[in-house]
Amino acid sequence: MCRRVLALLSVLAALRCAPAASGDGAGAGDAPQLNPRPVIGVLAQENLPGDRFARGSSYIAACYVKYVEGAGARVVPIRINRTEEEYSKIFSSINGLLLPGGDVDLQKSLFSRAAKTFYELAMKANDAGDYFPIWGTCQGFQQLSVLTSNRHLLTLTDTRAVALPLKFTAEAQSSRMFSSFPRDVMQSLAQENITSNFHKWSLSMQNYSRNAKLRRFYRVLSTNSDGKKEFISTMEAVRYPFYAVQWHPEKSPFEWIQKPGMVHSAAAVRASFYTASFFVSEARKSQHRFSSPEEEDAALIYNFPPVYRGRDAIFLQNYYFD
Ligand SMILES: *[C@@H]1O[C@H](CO)[C@@H](O)[C@H](O)[C@H]1NC(C)=O
Ligand SMILES: *[C@@H]1O[C@H](CO)[C@@H](O)[C@H](O)[C@H]1NC(C)=O
Ligand SMILES: *[C@@H]1O[C@H](CO)[C@@H](O)[C@H](O)[C@H]1NC(C)=O
Repeated sequence: MCRRVLALLSVLAALRCAPAASGDGAGAGDAPQLNPRPVIGVLAQENLPGDRFARGSSYIAACYVKYVEGAGARVVPIRINRTEEEYSKIFSSINGLLLPGGDVDLQKSLFSRAAKTFYELAMKANDAGDYFPIWGTCQGFQQLSVLTSNRHLLTLTDTRAVALPLKFTAEAQSSRMFSSFPRDVMQSLAQENITSNFHKWSLSMQNYSRNAKLRRFYRVLSTNSDGKKEFISTMEAVRYPFYAVQWHPEKSPFEWIQKPGMVHSAAAVRASFYTASFFVSEARKSQHRFSSPEEEDAALIYNFPPVYRGRDAIFLQNYYFD
């Protein structure tokens, strides 16, 4: 008995000393070390018209910051209306980009201009073997579709405030994104109304299928319908670590306005976490970093206080910028 316990202990000790699967060298090809301190850039956008809490001309909804922080990353706000040089410098310092939801022009806004700059930098970096993920939520999803096709191919749908179950495509199972999700989360996503939809524009399956650029670039992982038009609710790029959800995983844990489409069930919060965790796991593959700890400190979102906008606000708290 005692000998067996000792044998077991020595096996456990050996396991503990074994290199991690994602590995340091020996036989792992040139798989790089994962970055244990990932930093995500979240892009600001022009203020919502008539925002009486606004200070300055642009904002980031705090829910996106919490969403990323809750999965083990820190956030650097990316301000709009900055120079290409400045964006280039930020790009080489961060490990991923999040394009949030909101309500700006996808072709003319300063948000769209900055998104384009980062999208192009990310394409170039990934082409050169420098892994850099992008995540787009709602407006961010739509912005990615405009950047890839170079056209506005969105159509109006009746999806302004509704929670839906995802209709997974056959490709979801083998996708990078969903293959990392636990079974019960996939089951909840497929069967329960836990994905919050708050959008008037959608990328229909029809327009996606008719556009060669979109079709070649993205793999559709889930769709939904407003009863009339089938639209894409989740997609990932085939050759790039770019991901897009038309729904709002960040709302379930972090937004509390009472309206149809908001869901706070344990399953919804759990699903939310796995989307953020997946994105952050992608960012861990990036080795970008700030040139000094001081520069990193100065760039982090902690330097800005969020503003509480009240319980009836669509965003409970916002960060505002000049
Ligand atoms: C963008 O920056 C320019 C130059 O600093 C400034 O004149 C302009 O007002 C800014 N636009 C916005 C919308 O902030
Ligand atoms: C397809 O895109 C066009 C814009 O080019 C848009 O007017 C139209 O509503 C879209 N149709 C569908 C079914 O998505
Ligand atoms: C639940 O999802 C279905 C679509 O599968 C939709 O028709 C229905 O409106 C949703 N119900 C709620 C309460 O959001």
